[in-house]
Amino acid sequence: MTSTSAAGSDTRAARSGGSALELEQLEKHYGDFTAVHPLDLHIPAGQFFALLGPSGCGKTTTLRMVAGLDAPSGGSIKIGGTDISGLPAHKRPVNTVFQSYALFPHMSVFENVAFGLKRRRVGDWKARAQEFLELVELVHLASRKPTQLSGGQQQRVALARALVNKPEILLLDEPLGALDMKLRRQMQTELKRIQTDVGLTFVHVTHDQEEAMSMADTVAVMNAGRIEQLGPPQELYDLPLTAFVANFLGRSNLMPGTVVGRRGEFLEVDAAGHRVLLAAARAVSESGDVLVGVRPEKLDIRASTPGDAATAENELAGIVTDTAFAGMSNEYHVEVPGLGDFAVFAQNRGAAILQPGDAVTLSWHPEHAFGLDGADDVDAGEES
Ligand SMILES: Nc1ncnc2c1ncn2[C@@H]1O[C@H](COP(=O)(O)OP(=O)(O)O)[C@@H](O)[C@H]1O
Ligand SMILES: [Mg+2]
Repeated sequence: MTSTSAAGSDTRAARSGGSALELEQLEKHYGDFTAVHPLDLHIPAGQFFALLGPSGCGKTTTLRMVAGLDAPSGGSIKIGGTDISGLPAHKRPVNTVFQSYALFPHMSVFENVAFGLKRRRVGDWKARAQEFLELVELVHLASRKPTQLSGGQQQRVALARALVNKPEILLLDEPLGALDMKLRRQMQTELKRIQTDVGLTFVHVTHDQEEAMSMADTVAVMNAGRIEQLGPPQELYDLPLTAFVANFLGRSNLMPGTVVGRRGEFLEVDAAGHRVLLAAARAVSESGDVLVGVRPEKLDIRASTPGDAATAENELAGIVTDTAFAGMSNEYHVEVPGLGDFAVFAQNRGAAILQPGDAVTLSWHPEHAFGLDGADDVDAGEES
Protein backbone atom coordinates (compact mmCIF):
# COMPACT_ATOMS: atom_id res chain seq x y z
CA MET A 1 0.00 0.00 0.00
CA THR A 2 2.11 2.91 -1.20
CA SER A 3 -0.57 5.12 -2.73
CA THR A 4 -1.51 7.49 0.00
CA SER A 5 -3.13 10.86 0.46
CA ALA A 6 -3.40 13.05 3.51
CA ALA A 7 -6.43 14.96 2.30
CA GLY A 8 -9.04 16.53 4.51
CA SER A 9 -7.05 19.00 6.58
CA ASP A 10 -6.04 21.78 4.20
CA THR A 11 -8.15 24.25 6.18
CA ARG A 12 -5.02 26.00 7.42
CA ALA A 13 -3.60 26.44 3.96
CA ALA A 14 -5.50 29.67 3.43
CA ARG A 15 -3.37 31.67 5.86
CA SER A 16 -0.33 29.59 5.24
CA GLY A 17 2.97 30.51 3.70
CA GLY A 18 3.49 26.80 3.12
CA SER A 19 2.94 24.68 0.07
CA ALA A 20 1.73 21.20 -0.67
CA LEU A 21 4.30 18.45 -1.15
CA GLU A 22 3.66 15.73 -3.71
CA LEU A 23 5.81 12.69 -4.20
CA GLU A 24 5.16 10.50 -7.19
CA GLN A 25 6.70 7.03 -7.47
CA LEU A 26 9.70 8.36 -5.53
CA GLU A 27 12.18 5.58 -4.85
CA LYS A 28 15.75 4.98 -3.74
CA HIS A 29 18.02 2.00 -4.24
CA TYR A 30 21.53 1.42 -2.94
CA GLY A 31 22.87 -1.32 -5.22
CA ASP A 32 20.27 -4.07 -5.03
CA PHE A 33 18.94 -2.86 -1.67
CA THR A 34 15.75 -0.80 -1.81
CA ALA A 35 15.72 1.86 0.92
CA VAL A 36 12.46 3.46 -0.32
CA HIS A 37 9.98 1.58 -2.50
CA PRO A 38 8.06 3.65 -5.10
CA LEU A 39 6.14 6.09 -2.92
CA ASP A 40 3.11 8.21 -3.81
CA LEU A 41 2.31 10.80 -1.21
CA HIS A 42 0.33 14.03 -1.11
CA ILE A 43 0.77 16.35 1.87
CA PRO A 44 -1.58 19.36 1.82
CA ALA A 45 -0.21 22.86 2.47
CA GLY A 46 -0.07 23.86 6.12
CA GLN A 47 -0.14 20.34 7.50
CA PHE A 48 1.88 18.95 10.35
CA PHE A 49 2.79 15.62 8.82
CA ALA A 50 4.72 12.93 10.69
CA LEU A 51 6.67 10.13 9.06
CA LEU A 52 6.90 7.49 11.77
CA GLY A 53 8.83 4.25 11.74
CA PRO A 54 11.63 2.26 13.33
CA SER A 55 15.28 2.94 12.69
CA GLY A 56 16.37 2.01 9.16
CA CYS A 57 12.90 2.07 7.56
CA GLY A 58 13.77 4.85 5.09
CA LYS A 59 12.59 8.06 6.80
CA THR A 60 15.82 10.05 6.48
CA THR A 61 16.34 8.84 2.91
CA THR A 62 12.86 10.12 1.98
CA LEU A 63 13.54 13.49 3.61
CA ARG A 64 16.97 13.84 2.01
CA MET A 65 15.49 13.24 -1.44
CA VAL A 66 12.95 16.02 -0.83
CA ALA A 67 15.73 18.34 0.40
CA GLY A 68 17.87 17.55 -2.65
CA LEU A 69 20.65 15.98 -0.57
CA ASP A 70 20.21 12.50 -2.08
CA ALA A 71 19.38 11.80 -5.73
CA PRO A 72 16.25 9.61 -6.16
CA SER A 73 16.55 6.40 -8.21
CA GLY A 74 13.21 7.30 -9.78
CA GLY A 75 10.06 9.37 -9.43
CA SER A 76 9.33 13.07 -8.98
CA ILE A 77 8.85 15.70 -6.27
CA LYS A 78 6.49 18.65 -6.56
CA ILE A 79 6.24 21.59 -4.19
CA GLY A 80 3.25 23.88 -4.60
CA GLY A 81 2.50 22.14 -7.88
CA THR A 82 5.95 22.80 -9.37
CA ASP A 83 8.30 19.93 -10.17
CA ILE A 84 11.53 20.62 -8.28
CA SER A 85 13.15 17.24 -8.96
CA GLY A 86 15.86 18.86 -11.09
CA LEU A 87 16.76 21.67 -8.67
CA PRO A 88 19.90 21.57 -6.52
CA ALA A 89 19.39 21.60 -2.75
CA HIS A 90 20.01 25.33 -2.25
CA LYS A 91 17.40 26.29 -4.85
CA ARG A 92 14.61 24.23 -3.26
CA PRO A 93 12.10 26.11 -1.11
CA VAL A 94 12.72 23.85 1.88
CA ASN A 95 14.80 24.00 5.02
CA THR A 96 15.88 21.11 7.19
CA VAL A 97 16.34 20.89 10.95
CA PHE A 98 18.43 17.92 12.06
CA GLN A 99 18.93 16.23 15.39
CA SER A 100 22.37 17.83 15.65
CA TYR A 101 21.78 21.56 15.71
CA ALA A 102 24.92 22.54 13.77
CA LEU A 103 24.84 26.11 15.11
CA PHE A 104 27.81 28.39 14.48
CA PRO A 105 29.65 28.22 17.82
CA HIS A 106 31.48 31.55 17.54
CA MET A 107 28.31 33.52 16.74
CA SER A 108 25.68 34.75 19.17
CA VAL A 109 22.12 33.43 19.09
CA PHE A 110 21.05 36.57 17.22
CA GLU A 111 23.86 36.26 14.67
CA ASN A 112 23.05 32.61 14.10
CA VAL A 113 19.45 33.47 13.27
CA ALA A 114 20.37 36.51 11.16
CA PHE A 115 23.17 34.76 9.24
CA GLY A 116 21.17 33.56 6.22
CA LEU A 117 19.30 36.86 5.91
CA LYS A 118 22.49 38.93 5.93
CA ARG A 119 24.15 36.67 3.40
CA ARG A 120 21.18 37.07 1.07
CA ARG A 121 21.21 40.84 1.77
CA VAL A 122 17.61 40.86 2.97
CA GLY A 123 16.81 44.51 3.70
CA ASP A 124 15.01 44.19 7.01
CA TRP A 125 17.22 41.41 8.34
CA LYS A 126 17.42 42.85 11.85
CA ALA A 127 13.67 43.08 12.30
CA ARG A 128 13.16 39.65 10.72
CA ALA A 129 15.72 37.96 12.96
CA GLN A 130 14.13 39.65 15.97
CA GLU A 131 10.68 38.48 14.90
CA PHE A 132 11.77 34.84 14.74
CA LEU A 133 13.64 35.05 18.03
CA GLU A 134 10.35 36.20 19.52
CA LEU A 135 8.55 33.29 17.90
CA VAL A 136 10.83 30.79 19.65
CA GLU A 137 10.89 32.88 22.85
CA LEU A 138 14.63 33.47 22.96
CA VAL A 139 14.86 37.27 22.82
CA HIS A 140 16.30 37.39 26.34
CA LEU A 141 19.18 35.10 25.28
CA ALA A 142 19.98 36.85 21.98
CA SER A 143 23.58 37.75 22.88
CA ARG A 144 24.56 34.34 24.29
CA LYS A 145 26.75 31.85 22.48
CA PRO A 146 25.28 28.40 21.63
CA THR A 147 27.46 26.67 24.26
CA GLN A 148 25.78 28.80 26.92
CA LEU A 149 22.36 27.35 26.07
CA SER A 150 20.54 24.17 27.07
CA GLY A 151 19.83 21.52 24.44
CA GLY A 152 16.22 22.65 24.09
CA GLN A 153 17.26 26.29 23.68
CA GLN A 154 19.83 25.34 21.03
CA GLN A 155 17.17 23.41 19.16
CA ARG A 156 14.94 26.50 19.23
CA VAL A 157 17.76 28.57 17.71
CA ALA A 158 18.13 25.96 14.97
CA LEU A 159 14.39 26.17 14.38
CA ALA A 160 14.40 29.99 14.19
CA ARG A 161 17.38 29.86 11.83
CA ALA A 162 15.48 27.51 9.50
CA LEU A 163 12.16 29.38 9.70
CA VAL A 164 13.60 32.87 9.19
CA ASN A 165 14.35 31.98 5.57
CA LYS A 166 10.61 31.46 5.05
CA PRO A 167 10.79 28.06 3.40
CA GLU A 168 7.58 26.66 1.93
CA ILE A 169 8.21 23.37 3.67
CA LEU A 170 10.15 22.67 6.84
CA LEU A 171 11.72 19.22 7.09
CA LEU A 172 12.52 17.99 10.60
CA ASP A 173 14.65 14.87 11.04
CA GLU A 174 14.33 13.61 14.63
CA PRO A 175 14.89 17.20 15.82
CA LEU A 176 14.16 16.34 19.45
CA GLY A 177 16.12 13.09 19.48
CA ALA A 178 19.00 14.46 21.53
CA LEU A 179 16.82 15.86 24.31
CA ASP A 180 15.92 14.10 27.53
CA MET A 181 12.33 12.91 27.95
CA LYS A 182 10.97 15.86 29.94
CA LEU A 183 12.47 18.51 27.66
CA ARG A 184 11.39 16.48 24.67
CA ARG A 185 7.73 16.59 25.74
CA GLN A 186 8.02 20.32 26.42
CA MET A 187 9.57 20.97 23.01
CA GLN A 188 6.84 18.93 21.31
CA THR A 189 4.28 21.39 22.61
CA GLU A 190 6.52 24.31 21.54
CA LEU A 191 7.05 22.94 18.08
CA LYS A 192 3.34 22.37 17.60
CA ARG A 193 2.59 25.94 18.73
CA ILE A 194 5.20 27.37 16.35
CA GLN A 195 3.84 25.35 13.44
CA THR A 196 0.32 26.60 14.20
CA ASP A 197 1.62 30.20 14.43
CA VAL A 198 3.53 30.19 11.14
CA GLY A 199 1.08 27.89 9.33
CA LEU A 200 3.89 26.22 7.40
CA THR A 201 3.93 22.68 6.05
CA PHE A 202 6.00 20.59 8.48
CA VAL A 203 7.28 17.14 7.59
CA HIS A 204 8.49 15.65 10.85
CA VAL A 205 10.45 12.41 10.93
CA THR A 206 10.47 10.44 14.18
CA HIS A 207 10.65 6.91 15.58
CA ASP A 208 8.71 8.03 18.69
CA GLN A 209 5.06 7.04 18.27
CA GLU A 210 3.87 9.20 21.15
CA GLU A 211 5.57 12.21 19.59
CA ALA A 212 4.01 11.56 16.19
CA MET A 213 0.52 11.01 17.61
CA SER A 214 0.53 14.06 19.89
CA MET A 215 1.80 16.52 17.28
CA ALA A 216 0.76 15.54 13.79
CA ASP A 217 -2.42 16.14 11.79
CA THR A 218 -1.51 13.12 9.72
CA VAL A 219 0.78 10.24 10.61
CA ALA A 220 2.30 7.90 8.03
CA VAL A 221 3.64 4.67 9.47
CA MET A 222 6.65 3.46 7.50
CA ASN A 223 8.03 -0.06 7.54
CA ALA A 224 10.94 -1.39 5.47
CA GLY A 225 10.78 1.36 2.85
CA ARG A 226 6.99 1.43 2.48
CA ILE A 227 4.18 3.44 4.07
CA GLU A 228 1.90 0.81 5.64
CA GLN A 229 -0.87 3.13 6.75
CA LEU A 230 -1.58 6.84 6.82
CA GLY A 231 -4.24 8.93 8.53
CA PRO A 232 -5.13 11.10 11.51
CA PRO A 233 -3.50 9.71 14.68
CA GLN A 234 -6.79 8.70 16.34
CA GLU A 235 -7.90 6.81 13.26
CA LEU A 236 -4.64 4.88 13.03
CA TYR A 237 -4.79 4.01 16.70
CA ASP A 238 -8.45 3.01 16.61
CA LEU A 239 -8.32 0.98 13.44
CA PRO A 240 -4.87 -0.29 12.49
CA LEU A 241 -4.83 -2.30 9.27
CA THR A 242 -1.67 -4.35 9.80
CA ALA A 243 -0.03 -6.10 12.76
CA PHE A 244 2.97 -3.80 12.32
CA VAL A 245 0.84 -0.68 12.78
CA ALA A 246 -1.17 -2.29 15.62
CA ASN A 247 2.02 -3.03 17.55
CA PHE A 248 4.20 -0.07 16.62
CA LEU A 249 1.54 2.56 17.36
CA GLY A 250 0.61 1.79 20.96
CA ARG A 251 0.18 -1.84 21.99
CA SER A 252 -2.21 -4.56 20.92
CA ASN A 253 -3.27 -8.04 21.94
CA LEU A 254 -3.57 -10.10 18.76
CA MET A 255 -5.51 -13.37 18.72
CA PRO A 256 -5.10 -15.75 15.76
CA GLY A 257 -8.45 -17.19 14.67
CA THR A 258 -10.66 -18.27 11.80
CA VAL A 259 -13.95 -16.75 10.63
CA VAL A 260 -16.60 -19.47 11.13
CA GLY A 261 -19.83 -17.55 10.63
CA ARG A 262 -21.66 -14.29 10.51
CA ARG A 263 -24.27 -12.71 12.77
CA GLY A 264 -25.66 -9.46 11.35
CA GLU A 265 -22.90 -6.85 11.44
CA PHE A 266 -20.52 -9.22 13.15
CA LEU A 267 -18.19 -11.99 12.11
CA GLU A 268 -18.00 -15.01 14.37
CA VAL A 269 -14.39 -16.01 14.92
CA ASP A 270 -13.04 -19.16 16.47
CA ALA A 271 -9.83 -18.31 18.33
CA ALA A 272 -8.28 -21.44 19.86
CA GLY A 273 -11.73 -22.71 20.77
CA HIS A 274 -12.95 -19.35 22.12
CA ARG A 275 -15.87 -17.68 20.35
CA VAL A 276 -15.15 -14.04 19.51
CA LEU A 277 -17.33 -11.46 17.74
CA LEU A 278 -15.73 -8.96 15.38
CA ALA A 279 -17.47 -6.08 13.57
CA ALA A 280 -17.22 -6.93 9.86
CA ALA A 281 -16.63 -3.25 9.06
CA ARG A 282 -13.55 -3.29 11.28
CA ALA A 283 -11.92 -6.30 9.66
CA VAL A 284 -9.58 -6.26 6.66
CA SER A 285 -11.04 -9.60 5.55
CA GLU A 286 -14.41 -11.27 6.17
CA SER A 287 -13.32 -14.86 5.77
CA GLY A 288 -10.46 -17.25 6.40
CA ASP A 289 -7.71 -16.73 8.93
CA VAL A 290 -7.67 -13.45 10.84
CA LEU A 291 -5.95 -11.82 13.77
CA VAL A 292 -8.42 -10.27 16.22
CA GLY A 293 -6.86 -7.27 17.94
CA VAL A 294 -7.85 -5.53 21.18
CA ARG A 295 -5.94 -2.68 22.86
CA PRO A 296 -4.90 -3.30 26.51
CA GLU A 297 -7.05 -0.42 27.83
CA LYS A 298 -10.15 -1.76 26.06
CA LEU A 299 -10.08 -4.98 28.09
CA ASP A 300 -12.10 -5.36 31.26
CA ILE A 301 -10.64 -7.61 33.90
CA ARG A 302 -12.48 -9.12 36.85
CA ALA A 303 -11.72 -11.79 39.39
CA SER A 304 -13.46 -15.00 38.34
CA THR A 305 -16.00 -16.34 40.77
CA PRO A 306 -16.29 -20.09 41.41
CA GLY A 307 -18.39 -21.64 38.64
CA ASP A 308 -17.77 -18.61 36.40
CA ALA A 309 -16.90 -20.52 33.25
CA ALA A 310 -16.36 -17.52 30.92
CA THR A 311 -18.48 -19.19 28.28
CA ALA A 312 -19.99 -16.02 26.84
CA GLU A 313 -18.68 -14.48 23.64
CA ASN A 314 -15.74 -12.14 24.02
CA GLU A 315 -14.98 -13.54 27.43
CA LEU A 316 -11.73 -15.29 28.13
CA ALA A 317 -10.71 -17.05 31.33
CA GLY A 318 -7.09 -16.70 32.36
CA ILE A 319 -4.59 -16.47 35.16
CA VAL A 320 -2.76 -13.29 36.19
CA THR A 321 1.00 -13.77 35.68
CA ASP A 322 2.24 -10.27 36.43
CA THR A 323 0.99 -7.12 38.12
CA ALA A 324 2.54 -3.66 37.87
CA PHE A 325 1.13 -0.78 39.88
CA ALA A 326 1.63 2.51 38.02
CA GLY A 327 -0.38 4.93 40.16
CA MET A 328 -3.06 5.97 37.69
CA SER A 329 -3.47 2.47 36.37
CA ASN A 330 -2.51 -1.12 36.92
CA GLU A 331 -0.93 -3.13 34.19
CA TYR A 332 -1.64 -6.84 34.23
CA HIS A 333 -0.39 -9.74 32.21
CA VAL A 334 -2.85 -12.59 31.89
CA GLU A 335 -2.18 -16.03 30.45
CA VAL A 336 -5.14 -17.36 28.47
CA PRO A 337 -5.00 -21.07 27.58
CA GLY A 338 -4.52 -21.48 23.83
CA LEU A 339 -4.02 -17.75 23.20
CA GLY A 340 -1.06 -16.84 25.37
CA ASP A 341 -0.22 -13.56 27.05
CA PHE A 342 -2.63 -10.60 27.22
CA ALA A 343 -1.68 -7.11 28.43
CA VAL A 344 -4.43 -5.26 30.31
CA PHE A 345 -4.44 -1.62 31.49
CA ALA A 346 -6.97 -1.13 34.26
CA GLN A 347 -7.70 2.35 35.58
CA ASN A 348 -7.06 2.61 39.29
CA ARG A 349 -10.51 3.26 40.71
CA GLY A 350 -9.69 1.83 44.10
CA ALA A 351 -10.66 -1.79 43.47
CA ALA A 352 -8.39 -4.42 45.01
CA ILE A 353 -5.30 -5.06 42.92
CA LEU A 354 -5.27 -8.53 41.39
CA GLN A 355 -2.28 -10.70 42.16
CA PRO A 356 -0.27 -13.24 40.18
CA GLY A 357 -2.06 -16.57 40.34
CA ASP A 358 -5.54 -15.00 40.53
CA ALA A 359 -8.13 -16.50 38.17
CA VAL A 360 -9.68 -13.74 36.08
CA THR A 361 -12.11 -13.15 33.23
CA LEU A 362 -11.26 -10.76 30.40
CA SER A 363 -13.99 -9.20 28.30
CA TRP A 364 -14.42 -6.37 25.79
CA HIS A 365 -16.99 -4.65 23.66
CA PRO A 366 -17.00 -6.24 20.19
CA GLU A 367 -16.95 -2.73 18.63
CA HIS A 368 -13.49 -2.21 20.13
CA ALA A 369 -11.84 -5.12 18.38
CA PHE A 370 -10.24 -4.92 14.93
CA GLY A 371 -9.53 -7.67 12.43
CA LEU A 372 -6.23 -8.10 10.57
CA ASP A 373 -4.94 -10.51 7.95
CA GLY A 374 -4.25 -13.88 9.58
CA ALA A 375 -0.98 -14.10 7.63
CA ASP A 376 0.47 -11.04 9.42
CA ASP A 377 3.26 -11.70 11.90
CA VAL A 378 1.75 -11.17 15.38
CA ASP A 379 5.07 -9.77 16.61
CA ALA A 380 5.64 -7.31 13.73
CA GLY A 381 6.49 -3.82 14.96
CA GLU A 382 6.97 -4.91 18.60
CA GLU A 383 9.62 -2.89 20.33
CA SER A 384 12.47 -5.23 21.13
N1 LIG B 1 24.47 5.70 1.59
C1 LIG B 1 23.89 4.54 1.84
N2 LIG B 1 24.34 3.39 1.32
C2 LIG B 1 23.75 2.21 1.57
N3 LIG B 1 22.66 2.06 2.34
C3 LIG B 1 22.16 3.16 2.91
C4 LIG B 1 22.73 4.46 2.69
N4 LIG B 1 21.99 5.37 3.38
C5 LIG B 1 21.02 4.66 3.99
N5 LIG B 1 21.10 3.35 3.71
C6 LIG B 1 20.20 2.28 4.18
O1 LIG B 1 18.88 2.62 3.83
C7 LIG B 1 17.97 2.25 4.87
C8 LIG B 1 17.16 3.43 5.29
O2 LIG B 1 18.00 4.36 5.96
P1 LIG B 1 17.41 5.70 6.59
O3 LIG B 1 16.57 6.37 5.59
O4 LIG B 1 18.56 6.47 7.14
O5 LIG B 1 16.51 5.13 7.77
P2 LIG B 1 15.78 5.89 8.98
O6 LIG B 1 16.00 7.36 8.83
O7 LIG B 1 14.35 5.49 8.88
O8 LIG B 1 16.40 5.35 10.23
C9 LIG B 1 18.82 1.66 5.99
O9 LIG B 1 18.78 0.25 5.88
C10 LIG B 1 20.20 2.19 5.69
O10 LIG B 1 21.19 1.31 6.17
MG1 LIG C 1 16.98 8.67 10.18
